[in-house]
Amino acid sequence: MLDSLALLLAAAHFGVPLTYYWYAKTRWLTGPWKIQVDTNFTPNIAIIVPTYREGEFIERRLTNIMEQDYPKDKLEVIVVDSISDDATADIVKNWIRRNPDTRIRLTVDSERKGKMHALHLGLQEMSGREEVVVFTDADAVWERKALSKAVSYLCDQTVGVVTGTIAYAENSGVIGEGVYRGFYNTLRIAESKRHSTPVHNGPFQAVRTKLIREVGMPSFEGSEDSAIASFAAFAGYRAIQADDVMLQEFVRGSQMRRKVRRAQHLILNFLRTKGYAKRIRHFVKSPFETIWRIEWYMHIINPWLLMASILTFLAAAASHSTIAIASLMIGLLLLAAKPYRVWVLQQTYLLIAQLMTLRTQEVAWGR
Ligand code: GDD
Ligand code: MN
Repeated sequence: MLDSLALLLAAAHFGVPLTYYWYAKTRWLTGPWKIQVDTNFTPNIAIIVPTYREGEFIERRLTNIMEQDYPKDKLEVIVVDSISDDATADIVKNWIRRNPDTRIRLTVDSERKGKMHALHLGLQEMSGREEVVVFTDADAVWERKALSKAVSYLCDQTVGVVTGTIAYAENSGVIGEGVYRGFYNTLRIAESKRHSTPVHNGPFQAVRTKLIREVGMPSFEGSEDSAIASFAAFAGYRAIQADDVMLQEFVRGSQMRRKVRRAQHLILNFLRTKGYAKRIRHFVKSPFETIWRIEWYMHIINPWLLMASILTFLAAAASHSTIAIASLMIGLLLLAAKPYRVWVLQQTYLLIAQLMTLRTQEVAWGR
């Protein structure tokens, strides 16, 4: 009896995401974008780079941005530093001195209030002529055509936000990261083709400024790249991950803490963005709602089914059920397989993140 229940819980836990993945891959991913792409569209762009202790990366970041295949006179870079106690600001000032022909500015905030606060400061620094604003992390690297490709989607007025696809180097040092990205990238791009994806990537996020003027940016604790995307989709715009905008990201510091924090920001997105959009009356019905419901379920409810399944198996094993003991053994042995291991780890991060969210929200983080 107990072991049937445990098996049922496990089947539901693994079955729903796999079915959704299969459906999205065969139905949506193979379909058209239904977006008018115009590669000649070259609007004015502001690029906002929030920095906190980025002495190691910021020079490479600025150089990479300036090497983009995009008209330089249409680009402006705004670095918003939260009084880093390292060389970040000096490196930026030096860079500005050595490159007098590029439009780049440094704004230093008076205290550290987190990435989102820095992005808002950057928005205030814009001239107002930009049609597109791009948010990017200091530890990101874009391929040369990332900007021009992303912008070509924004020529279509139905598209509000475009993020890119992260390709991890084989030797990036993060166990299983490649697999994680493979499964999720497929899902995110498929969802984008259908309408929008609720999860976006901090290394690159291009937003139509008209959207920000019309409906604003989400501003609740933990608002993040994903919250910006989900909010835009609820407001009636498409928020897509483009499969031809390739990005890289350096990974550093404690991976465990980082993964839990990112999971926490995702949880906050799924717990708050929809209510927020409805409350401020920027909510439009669209096919995104179905995507949202399933992703909401996969982030908020589904991890608990795995936990419940394991606990039920353990209870059954305690009363000597051979099926339960065998299932637990198989579950353990499968951890040798990378995709399964990465999945189970991710579920653990989501669970820890949910429990943590009851207590605290990490707006400014260390590394
Ligand atoms: N100005 C400012 N002030 N910038 C900050 C602050 C702050 O308090 N905290 C972080 N940043 C900047 C970093 O300097 C970096 O450019 C960017 O925000 C992302 O921070 P990372 O420290 O690189 O975070 P990550 O790679 O682990 O974060 C990932 O998850 C975050 C959500 O938890 C990325 O995808 C982020 O984009 C995402 O926001
Ligand atoms: Mn980072």
